[in-house]
Amino acid sequence: MAETILVTGATGTVGSELVRALINRGVNTRAAVHSIIKGDRLRHFNPEVQLVEVDYHRPASLPLAFTGVDRVFLLTPFSDQQLIINQQLVDAAKAAGVQQVVRLSAAGADMEPGIQLGRWHRQMEQYLEQSGLSHVILRPTSFMQNFVNYQGQSIREQGAIYLPLGEGRMSYIDAFDIAEVAAAILTDDVAKHHGQAYTLTGPQAVNHTEIAGIIGQATGRPVQYVDVPETAARQAMQGAPQWMVDSMMELNALGKAGHLAGTTPAVEQLTGRPPRSFQEFAQEHRHELMPA
Ligand SMILES: NC(=O)c1ccc[n+]([C@@H]2O[C@H](COP(=O)([O-])OP(=O)(O)OC[C@H]3O[C@@H](n4cnc5c(N)ncnc54)[C@H](OP(=O)(O)O)[C@@H]3O)[C@@H](O)[C@H]2O)c1
Repeated sequence: MAETILVTGATGTVGSELVRALINRGVNTRAAVHSIIKGDRLRHFNPEVQLVEVDYHRPASLPLAFTGVDRVFLLTPFSDQQLIINQQLVDAAKAAGVQQVVRLSAAGADMEPGIQLGRWHRQMEQYLEQSGLSHVILRPTSFMQNFVNYQGQSIREQGAIYLPLGEGRMSYIDAFDIAEVAAAILTDDVAKHHGQAYTLTGPQAVNHTEIAGIIGQATGRPVQYVDVPETAARQAMQGAPQWMVDSMMELNALGKAGHLAGTTPAVEQLTGRPPRSFQEFAQEHRHELMPA
């Protein structure tokens, strides 16, 4: 019988790309969605997808979502509840007897002492590792999509990217490539990837002046990068929870110092084609980066 794959975080940046990638491969895909209304949009683009509503604040919603599932893509939201959500999802996968869990983590999760964001991900990876489930860990670098999701408004309205990253180069990855890797693994032999952790990066590291130039070229209007001092960056995040501000600033400091510039051949090895460049990303998403 054909396998069923459950995608958590299915309406989000990586999850929605993964639903597309699995449906394109003809896989029975079940999307765990926080609300059916958001899921409807996903179904509009992928009519074959099954939708199941889950709410991590209502763990009783999980067993139904996992019923009859063979493999799971496990993604935890960026939340102060992520450790407990991860535990509930791993426990639900175990109770349902799934064959494989592919977990989205973050590059540097295995660094010691690393940074808080990485340490949380490492704790979540360890919970999965100790579950006895066959598992694969994906550790991507920062997403190119952050320039649509978080910098998109200032790019569209002011033609500016405000970030505290100095001249630091970073090897941003397109969420499309993370999804392609996840889809390749989720449709491959389970034993082949069991226990592996793959660090996924874009093809090259770019600095933010270069990114502004690339987006400017793709959208046909100039974009400038403004290097923001740390205190101003903290002020701009006023209203966000302190744990979020502190952990993001810690990540930014690593980026500014040039520690997030490494690349790996993992995307090409796992998908058979090189990861997308920032130019390709900007071209694909140019309409989301132009003024309304
Ligand atoms: N952004 C980066 O540069 C980066 C880099 C490396 C690793 N990561 C990791 O990637 C993960 C985030 O991935 P993403 O950006 O693809 O996520 P995302 O776009 O923020 O999407 C999160 C998903 O989780 C769902 N969700 C949130 N709360 C829920 C709840 N209570 N019950 C059910 N579903 C819920 C959301 O649905 P609703 O929207 O409907 O609530 C959404 O589908 C995090 O673990 C982060 O640490 C991110």
